[in-house]
Amino acid sequence: MPQIAINDVYLPYLDEMSRVQVFYGGASSGKSVFVAQRAVTDVAQGGRNYLVCRAVGRTIRRSVMNEIRKVIADAELTKLFDVNRSDGIITCKNGYQILFAGLDDVEKIKSITPERGALTDVWVEEATETSRDSVRQLMKRQRGGDESVAKRLTLTFNPILQIHWIYEDYFASIGWADKQTQHKANDLSILKTWYIHNKFLTQQDIEGLENEKDKYYRDVYTYGNWGVLGNVIFSNWRVEDLSEMRNQFTNRRNGLDFGFASDPAAIVCTHYDTRKKTIYVFDELYERGLTNDLLAAEVKRMMGGDVVTCDSAEPKSIAELQKMGVNATGAKKGKDSVTWGIDWLKQQEIVIDSRCVNLRNELLAYKWKEDAGGNAIRVPVDKNNHLIDALRYAYESEAGGATWYF
Ligand SMILES: Nc1ncnc2c1ncn2[C@@H]1O[C@H](COP(=O)(O)OP(=O)(O)OP(=O)(O)O)[C@@H](O)[C@H]1O
Ligand SMILES: [Mg+2]
Repeated sequence: MPQIAINDVYLPYLDEMSRVQVFYGGASSGKSVFVAQRAVTDVAQGGRNYLVCRAVGRTIRRSVMNEIRKVIADAELTKLFDVNRSDGIITCKNGYQILFAGLDDVEKIKSITPERGALTDVWVEEATETSRDSVRQLMKRQRGGDESVAKRLTLTFNPILQIHWIYEDYFASIGWADKQTQHKANDLSILKTWYIHNKFLTQQDIEGLENEKDKYYRDVYTYGNWGVLGNVIFSNWRVEDLSEMRNQFTNRRNGLDFGFASDPAAIVCTHYDTRKKTIYVFDELYERGLTNDLLAAEVKRMMGGDVVTCDSAEPKSIAELQKMGVNATGAKKGKDSVTWGIDWLKQQEIVIDSRCVNLRNELLAYKWKEDAGGNAIRVPVDKNNHLIDALRYAYESEAGGATWYF
């Protein structure tokens, strides 16, 4: 078999067999590529089948499935694998498989079975987007079958917040120390990595990570430490299952923030209860790599012909969306509109559907900048605020910053 170039730090984990395996840490540390490499190697050798999950199924094909296809291509193994993109199935000539499913598709998760042998491996990519309950269900899902083959659940993620259930269940429970980078036991292994562990990064990648000025982002995304926040902007929100209420949501406000390569395109669909001053966020899109035609298709799927208020910095994209039948308009974004928008949103109740994990993660970490003494100043850190910006655009006419100047 052709050689696969694996970063050294991960080599001992190729045949690690602990029941739960956590690979977490800073951005671009090689976590996802390694687990993709291990999946391809294991399946090619035979005897193991993988189920690869993310919180939202729709995002899988364009993210983790592509990473696995890239590993197959780099290892010159394309002849050995048959890739069925539409069903989310990669089958090796030996009959073993890599299957893909979103945790939002409960029926598919329940019924998914490999053609040959047992489901030995489950990999949850970006695991901080998922709920404790859905991960428990996955572990149950692996029970039974051939008991002679070790079952593994692998989680990969950035450690966005120490108050996350993953910290509580897997780190606090074993007395994980801040300086620790590894833990190994039969039931759980943990490996922490950051950019120094990925020899494939360019000098430019490294500088980008090292030059991060904000303490929280440096901690989490540069060095892979569990995030601890001060000066959070929004606390006026809660998560609920809104799926049953959807047809009551008639007073719609939708917002869109453009993004393509490093930033995702972000959309929120909401309903405004004017009397109760309550915003219900019932759908979101958060996805990189969408060209405007794909984006237009997603917008129409999510909201049909409803108006969507978009970031006006991209008039050409707005014009393209309009041409493709999207009812897009540009946000006005007057002077101080960011602070006005934030102030107005802070005066509302925000109820978020439990499936909108990305908005929840953004709100958890959205914070004011700090001065040298660590005091908050009234300027938000301009990061991970794509859905929040979309939400501001959606309510721009309500927040009405510009009219304050008359
Ligand atoms: N073994 C490898 N061979 C070649 N390139 C690699 C390898 N591992 C990582 N890379 C390169 O480094 C980049 C970052 O790696 P990867 O996406 O695995 O990081 P990550 O730890 O999952 O990051 P994040 O936390 O941002 O998801 C990849 O896109 C790829 O370009
Ligand atoms: Mg990754």
